Amino acid sequence: MAIFVFIFLFMSGIVIADSQPVLNSVEQESVYRVLESLNSDIPWRTLFPDDLCSSAPHGVVCGYTTIPTDTDPGTVNILELSFGYVSDNNPNPPCDPNSTNFDPFFFSSFPYLRKLFFYNCFTQRPVSVQAFSLVGSDLEELVFIENPSLFGSLSDSISNMTSLRRLVITGTNVSGEIPGGFGLLENLEEATLSRNRFAGTVPENVSKLKKLKILDLSHNGFEGNIPAGVGELENLIKLDLSMNLFCGGFPASMKGLKSLELLDLSYNRFSNSGIPLFFSEMSKLKVMHLSGNGLGGVFPDFWGKLRGINGIGFSGLGLLGNISSSIGVFLSNLTYLTLDNNKLTGRVPLELERLELLNELNLKNNNLSGRLPFSAKFVSRVGRKLEVQGNPELCLDKRVVRSFSKINRNLGHLKVCKVVENPKFALPRISSSRSNGYQVPSLLVMFLWFFFM
Ligand SMILES: *[C@@H]1O[C@H](CO)[C@@H](O)[C@H](O)[C@H]1NC(C)=O
Ligand SMILES: *[C@@H]1O[C@H](CO)[C@@H](O)[C@H](O)[C@H]1NC(C)=O
Ligand SMILES: *[C@@H]1O[C@H](CO)[C@@H](O)[C@H](O)[C@H]1NC(C)=O
Ligand SMILES: *[C@@H]1O[C@H](CO)[C@@H](O)[C@H](O)[C@H]1NC(C)=O
Ligand SMILES: *[C@@H]1O[C@H](CO)[C@@H](O)[C@H](O)[C@H]1NC(C)=O
Ligand SMILES: *[C@@H]1O[C@H](CO)[C@@H](O)[C@H](O)[C@H]1NC(C)=O
Ligand SMILES: *[C@@H]1O[C@H](CO)[C@@H](O)[C@H](O)[C@H]1NC(C)=O
Repeated sequence: MAIFVFIFLFMSGIVIADSQPVLNSVEQESVYRVLESLNSDIPWRTLFPDDLCSSAPHGVVCGYTTIPTDTDPGTVNILELSFGYVSDNNPNPPCDPNSTNFDPFFFSSFPYLRKLFFYNCFTQRPVSVQAFSLVGSDLEELVFIENPSLFGSLSDSISNMTSLRRLVITGTNVSGEIPGGFGLLENLEEATLSRNRFAGTVPENVSKLKKLKILDLSHNGFEGNIPAGVGELENLIKLDLSMNLFCGGFPASMKGLKSLELLDLSYNRFSNSGIPLFFSEMSKLKVMHLSGNGLGGVFPDFWGKLRGINGIGFSGLGLLGNISSSIGVFLSNLTYLTLDNNKLTGRVPLELERLELLNELNLKNNNLSGRLPFSAKFVSRVGRKLEVQGNPELCLDKRVVRSFSKINRNLGHLKVCKVVENPKFALPRISSSRSNGYQVPSLLVMFLWFFFM
């Protein structure tokens, strides 16, 4: 007995002396097993024979789970596991696509795990996403990127992951609906579920995810309306629902998205709502992509409230009416404006030339008319990204045909304006324009002079 006490004191004395707690043997062994199951070609136990909290492969992160004090060395546990070589700056253990003995149940051995990350790991052998629901409730980040053979659907028990801040599942074969329990993940800040095979509707109670900043459901098979609850996510910065089967109109609650910077609703089945006026209440918006929906309605003129916008994608919306010149007046940060394949009419506003950062302007396949009003400087800056084909009534001033079509071959296909198209002759109050003010009256005077002679 005395010997046991002595040994115990002696051992704890050593531990206090170098004050380095070691990883418990269960987690140490489990890390080896996970590594071996993901890549059996690398001799992990030989390369990293010591305590994995003092020397571990990149991607295996250990940390204190009880803080050391004078009398207690504290405890350490595995906090993060990242697998799949990303880059030389992020050389996680590489995954062997042919590994056959991967068992996600290993992850139930890490009760303090905060981050689990897989990049390009499940590419051939099917692995079910459900098994990962056994990961402890401390998990804050669950990330799967480019794992095409990860399959199955998220189970309702995802709601047990109450600490989850980031859920990223992108480029997988995961399918099914978003489980109802999703609405209980009240610490969630990012839900990126793009490029999978998810389907079904988005539950109304996403509105409970008050901390959500990123909701990206793009490239899936989601359907139904955007739930009104989405409008309650007032911290949302990015809302990407593109490339799905969403339909109907847009809930007016979306005007509550006061922090939103990126709105991408393109390529869905939204219909006949026009572009709602309340979109202009999202005053922080930088990117607005609505392309590929049959929205119809007239071109909006709410740009004075959206001055920070730097990208507009309005292709194929069935938009009617004139392009509002206020875009050129207010959106000084605009870099691209795509309005192709609509039913826009009237002139191309000269004001667009004021957009000094604009490097893409697509007006293809509309019904625009009149003279293309741009200067050679503007045309060379935008270069080939200026597209105007498919507007039969649009024309080019005779004097610029040669130089413009050298810069951009597309412009050579425009017809040459009839003289009457020249605004010098069409403008009623010519004398208020200083540069042109002399020419026209003098021409008129000459004309009258000849007439009366
Ligand atoms: C995986 O196995 C296939 C055939 O079973 C083989 O062609 C391929 O080279 C293997 N890949 C690796 C990275 O070992
Ligand atoms: C994805 O899952 C479906 C069945 O759900 C299967 O037919 C298909 O082969 C899977 N694709 C990949 C790449 O694993
Ligand atoms: C997860 O939550 C479900 C209820 O949704 C519960 O029945 C289950 O026991 C929990 N599972 C774990 C592993 O904690
Ligand atoms: C969320 O709503 C769905 C129905 O849309 C329901 O099945 C689920 O139980 C709800 N979840 C919570 C946590 O309220
Ligand atoms: C344009 O962008 C700059 C730099 O990002 C920013 O400082 C400025 O506020 C933006 N202008 C508007 C009108 O939002
Ligand atoms: C549209 O533009 C044309 C010519 O560019 C103009 O005559 C017409 O009044 C404009 N319509 C509207 C609604 O502004
Ligand atoms: C284009 O506009 C003209 C009037 O400017 C109209 O007569 C014509 O029908 C329109 N064409 C299309 C395809 O909308």
